[in-house]
Amino acid sequence: MNEARKATMTIDREFKIAEVDERIYGSFIEHLGRAVYGGIYEPGHPKATAGGYRQDVIDLVKELQVPIVRYPGGNMVSAYNWEDGVGPLEDRPKRLELAWRVLEPNHVGTNEFVDWAKLADTDVMMAVNLGTRGIDAARNLLEYCNHPEGSYWSDLRKEHGYAAPHAIKTWCLGNEMDGPWQVGHKTADEYGRLASETAKAMRLVDPTIELVACGSSNINMPTFPQWEATTLDHTYEDVDYISLHQYYGNRSNDSASYLAKTLDMDRFIETVIATCDYIKAKKRSKKKMYLSFDEWNVWYHSNEADRQLEPWSVAPPQLEDVYNFEDALLVGSMLMSFLRRADRVKMACMAQLVNVIAPIMTENGGDAWRQTIFFPYMHVSVFGRGTSLQPVIQSPTYDTKEYTDVPHLDSAVVFNEEADELTIFALNRHLEEALDLHIDVRGFEGYRIAEHIVLENGDLKAVNTAGKQSVQPHRNGTSKLEDGRVTARLSNASWHVLRLKASSE
Ligand code: AHR
Repeated sequence: MNEARKATMTIDREFKIAEVDERIYGSFIEHLGRAVYGGIYEPGHPKATAGGYRQDVIDLVKELQVPIVRYPGGNMVSAYNWEDGVGPLEDRPKRLELAWRVLEPNHVGTNEFVDWAKLADTDVMMAVNLGTRGIDAARNLLEYCNHPEGSYWSDLRKEHGYAAPHAIKTWCLGNEMDGPWQVGHKTADEYGRLASETAKAMRLVDPTIELVACGSSNINMPTFPQWEATTLDHTYEDVDYISLHQYYGNRSNDSASYLAKTLDMDRFIETVIATCDYIKAKKRSKKKMYLSFDEWNVWYHSNEADRQLEPWSVAPPQLEDVYNFEDALLVGSMLMSFLRRADRVKMACMAQLVNVIAPIMTENGGDAWRQTIFFPYMHVSVFGRGTSLQPVIQSPTYDTKEYTDVPHLDSAVVFNEEADELTIFALNRHLEEALDLHIDVRGFEGYRIAEHIVLENGDLKAVNTAGKQSVQPHRNGTSKLEDGRVTARLSNASWHVLRLKASSE
């Protein structure tokens, strides 16, 4: 190998951040665009199950090993009547869906989504409407879902064909209530009081649930982080998580800054943790607040097309970002941010899962296919289970229009002690030059490189389409392990998964 820029990393199995909560590999399905209708549900499609769920989509969701899916919104939940989506199909009303200005036929509702989640091997994270509704609708929905029987709402569920309770554990108290675009938008005091009282009623129905309070819609909200402080002042002892949402885009076509966006994301996470801990101290509480990063992704390609859509159609193609190669790099980097704070980030949902800003796309009546961002998501979800370790890293840095001192190397490390596997995720942010990564793994005696997966492409703007998968990982990474040291060549702008395993002989 010729000399290239050099970064070093030291990994020690004792430098533990925390056990990775697999729910950080969650995702999100909203009644929006073709996520539900034409995405997970398309009766009559050649690959549909008897219930109308697309098996080809389920297979791809299983490839991603998605442990939990947030539902039914999103902005949509803030004007949603959950009762519209249960009971005989022919009785379900068509409604004006206000968040995305479409017609909602309500052919899929709570029970159908729970059925789908079972087929896809995933759990449901349910959001309640704290926009147009409140305590009553939330406690009734919980009773409908989780109470065994003998009450009005639980018996109605049984009448609807679901004898066993759905046992949904995780519940979101509204969605982005800080956002002026939200139907029923509230001030932090209004929301905090409502969330606290809703939490109280819901826990009386089912004390085993976990609750997520709404944090800010993104780091640039003018009310951030005071929103978190005020909300938690009202709810600290009532909830288990505070949510974070963040989307990025490369609108100014400045890829050097774009790949550094996770510096911003790390700062977002750190600030929310600091705010949680401030309220904890203020309240002399013993409880630790955890983070649910329950919407994150790249979102900007489809903005213009969405502005052209006429309102009030059923399942139009909304938010159908076609992702390119550099988006995949940023997605890998965002996932590594969660691993670095695995001690506090316990849930995260890639928004969303199918057709709407999604790793999985479908054609109505046709095939399902993988977007570029599918691959880093799959890699970290499948191989990033175990204990997140804190590597000691030295990397050259660069400056961009938006950031200074950006490390060329972005990385996270997960050790799976049971499987005797060490996985190093790495991104070379340098757009033109390779980076030689030297990793000290002397504490992992007897390990060998099992696999070096690479996602690279000469064109940052390369995309996948239904017929052509131009961006795909390969397994021919250049790396070797000698005397407890790994040397790996990371080509310019590339994503890597280095999997080390204890030798069997
Ligand atoms: O995921 C798309 C939208 O982004 C969600 O409905 C909303 O919560 C966020 O603003």
